[in-house]
Amino acid sequence: FLSNLLAGAATSAAAAPAGPAVPVTIIWGSQTGNSEGLAKKLVKTLKKGNFEPEVFDMGAYDRARLPQEKHLLVITSTYGDGEPPDNAAELYNWILSDAAPRLEGVQFSVLALGDTNYPDFCKCGIDFDTRLEQLGASRIFQRVDSDVDYDGPFKQWSEGIFSVLAPAGAPSSNGAAAVEQVETGFSKKNPFPSAIVTNYNLNGEGEKQTHHIALSLDGSGLEYEVGDALGVFPENPASVVDEILAALPFNTKTSVPLPDGGEADLREALIRNYDIGNLNKSLIQKWQAKSGSPFLRSLVQADDKKSWDDFCWGRDLIDLVVDHPADFTDAEDFVGVLKKLQPRLYSIASSPKAHPGEVHLCVGIVRYNTYGRKRGGICSTFLSDRAEGLKPGVFVHVNKAFRLPENGDTPVIMVGPGTGIAPFRAFLEERKISGAKGGNWLFFGNPYSATDYLYGEELAAFQKEGYLQRLDLAWSRDQKEKVYVQNLMIQQGAELWKWFQDGAAFYVCGDASRMAKDVDAALHTIAEEHGGLSKDDAAAFVNQLKKDKRYLRDVY
Ligand code: 2AM
Repeated sequence: FLSNLLAGAATSAAAAPAGPAVPVTIIWGSQTGNSEGLAKKLVKTLKKGNFEPEVFDMGAYDRARLPQEKHLLVITSTYGDGEPPDNAAELYNWILSDAAPRLEGVQFSVLALGDTNYPDFCKCGIDFDTRLEQLGASRIFQRVDSDVDYDGPFKQWSEGIFSVLAPAGAPSSNGAAAVEQVETGFSKKNPFPSAIVTNYNLNGEGEKQTHHIALSLDGSGLEYEVGDALGVFPENPASVVDEILAALPFNTKTSVPLPDGGEADLREALIRNYDIGNLNKSLIQKWQAKSGSPFLRSLVQADDKKSWDDFCWGRDLIDLVVDHPADFTDAEDFVGVLKKLQPRLYSIASSPKAHPGEVHLCVGIVRYNTYGRKRGGICSTFLSDRAEGLKPGVFVHVNKAFRLPENGDTPVIMVGPGTGIAPFRAFLEERKISGAKGGNWLFFGNPYSATDYLYGEELAAFQKEGYLQRLDLAWSRDQKEKVYVQNLMIQQGAELWKWFQDGAAFYVCGDASRMAKDVDAALHTIAEEHGGLSKDDAAAFVNQLKKDKRYLRDVY
């Protein structure tokens, strides 16, 4: 993608003598590997030119270097409630603290990855950007904030940086052509149409619905490792699309442009290509501009966070269409305010060694009733209710930040309540099949033992066969007092501390906003109570676990 630009720079380099290589340091903060992937892609590109790039995991970056950096490029995501990725947290906290040094000689630029469906969009990147400037560093290029589709923003950002740095660091003439990597095989851009081979409710007759879904990878050439996620392209329910269309004056067969180019019938496009789900501020702002609704006008004018949240909660596009009609010039104008329907990522629940040619998911089906309408999670209800026979598009999302220890002798502690069990079923399958000797300890939790013991029989079998040494179950609603995984951790604190002394790796999967925080707090408590550490030393112990890649999280 940079080939034109680099080619241009190469030409100018031929005229001017090549100077010394331009040093560039890239540091990345990544929870699921996106920032890491972009950082590495950028390094490859820089290496083609007269640059001397270095790339660091923020968790492994020596912060004493910071004031000496010439060109510092920061690529970081934000997850949960505006939090930095785990590997970025320590550097982030330090840089925002009073301990941070002055950075007058440093030139920098930030690429912030985020998701506009969450509050505090791109907060971590924004904070880095603001703070670096406060500390006296100067911007090479303005910060770019990216929504989930980051290819375009990454291109814009890296081209911007090159336009400033390239004159001095022009790539060698033969480098430019090799920049664009041709993607072969199935990927996010070219998903594999996968047949669903199994689909059933793990909760049986229970109130919850958690489906076990097996998809075929036969003939795809796709490979995955335990810890990876599967991307799934959902379809919207036709019933909701038809209700939206019934309220609009357009012919359902009108051809409209698609988000990634090409055209389709309006109805098809609304089913497959456009997001008709939950509301967000930017959609409402665009909608308001075409609607006479006095309510929407005052909402947009007030621009108050709580009012936005209150209005968006429990509402979807259909509520705007029905309750706040807008005037569109034509169907193209209408789809122009909608965002692209995005794939959803699910932590893979199977080991490829245990289930060759298949990939398994453990999917919590989201259903709720708000403002007199039955609603559901787009992708979860698609998988459970609508996908059979449709061959949904899938791709593998590599997650190098959530891997089993390389050494099979290393003991493993896993905390995965609810659908957080998914990667740990895969871990256990993998450890069994690869003959790993290290102990395995699983904390699982869910409301009721009778209905919500996901993969209960399989776990019992692992236990019987000696692959699961410890299994602690938190049935939160089987008794009056709530019992959660972190309560069981505290109860077992002495034994857990022993496992840590024996070099255990600690894994957490599931809810980021509450569970993962409470589990983290429990870990600190255990280090204080059973390791005899002060509060600060306990924090240092937990930080060291993270640095050593012995505390890994897949939380959402
Ligand atoms: P609850 O819904 O009964 O409160 C999976 O969703 C399990 O995680 C459920 O048993 C749920 O309990 C529990 N859970 C809810 N909040 C939690 C928290 N802060 N920490 C740990 N588990 C939690």
